[in-house]
Amino acid sequence: MSEIVLRVENLRTSFFTRRGEVKAVDGVSFYVRESETFGLVGESACGKSVTALSILRLLPEPAGRIIGGKVILEGINLLDISKKAMRAFRGKKVSMILQDPMTSLNPVYTIGDQIAESVRLHQGLPDNMVQPEVISALRLLRIPAPEMRLRDYPFQLSGGMRQRVVGAIAMSCHPRLLIADEPTTALDATIQAQYIALFQEVQKKTQVAIIFITHDFGVVGKMCHRVGVMYAGKIVETAPTRVLFQAPRHPYTIALINSVPRLDRKDERLYSIEGQPPSLMNLPPGCRFFPRCSVSETVCREQEPPEVKVGDEHLVSCWKVK
Ligand SMILES: Nc1ncnc2c1ncn2[C@@H]1O[C@H](COP(=O)(O)OP(=O)(O)O)[C@@H](O)[C@H]1O
Ligand SMILES: [Mg+2]
Repeated sequence: MSEIVLRVENLRTSFFTRRGEVKAVDGVSFYVRESETFGLVGESACGKSVTALSILRLLPEPAGRIIGGKVILEGINLLDISKKAMRAFRGKKVSMILQDPMTSLNPVYTIGDQIAESVRLHQGLPDNMVQPEVISALRLLRIPAPEMRLRDYPFQLSGGMRQRVVGAIAMSCHPRLLIADEPTTALDATIQAQYIALFQEVQKKTQVAIIFITHDFGVVGKMCHRVGVMYAGKIVETAPTRVLFQAPRHPYTIALINSVPRLDRKDERLYSIEGQPPSLMNLPPGCRFFPRCSVSETVCREQEPPEVKVGDEHLVSCWKVK
């Protein structure tokens, strides 16, 4: 098996607001290997983005604070190092792609200048070495005619092409870990499929470890090797993707998989999960999914379920799973 690039251990992140503490991430653990894509999936507001921002230490301050856990990259706990050392890690060892490429691209600079800026900053190359790196980053993301394209401004490109440029910037420094937060959500289905295929190719060439964040189980099936299902600030089930689809164990995972529209079955009504996730400010005791769970018992209301290993790399936190 390939080497583990990132290990997150019992990460806890809260927002301290005037109305109280929002426990956005409450004891999250997972790891990602070289050449592996780990999916973080779950409904909106369950803590996926806050997990990503915590790894990169980019939380909005002063409200957002990491209150516990470890984020270990290449043997170093990123939560222990100085802000300056962290800046050196970002971009060089870890990059991030966000949902909306327009927020990551600067409208007044050409894309060539923006990639060059990132290459200069993180690789410290002499000027004559920068241009070839820019072109090779554009090539890696299969941007056609890169020598010409680098003179374009973001507005001259389609949405899909802009997201490729963001990918080129992220990959231009040869990171070991890439965090992609809903990178395909704003793209239409065809462009989305191309983007996923492209990232599989990029991963094959670079062995980059990827954390792929999405609320879309369909995308998980196409893109991820292993998946962590998040619910109300916790990972409730982790498994290799195939196992998760074929034999999901947590009632929440089962409900989520049932709610994926199936093209192979006609007149199938879209199943959705009744009720709302709990407020992260007033979490219920016991299992967080208990109020929405159709198979719960008394113990589920009273005590948090322990994590149980049910198979190879398959972990579930549910009282009904033994
Ligand atoms: N700046 C903030 N201040 C207070 N609460 C926040 C802030 N950012 C996020 N949260 C809360 O943290 C929780 C997790 O959010 P997030 O990680 O963005 O969810 P998602 O899974 O959709 O990415 C949500 O309840 C959200 O309201
Ligand atoms: Mg998010």
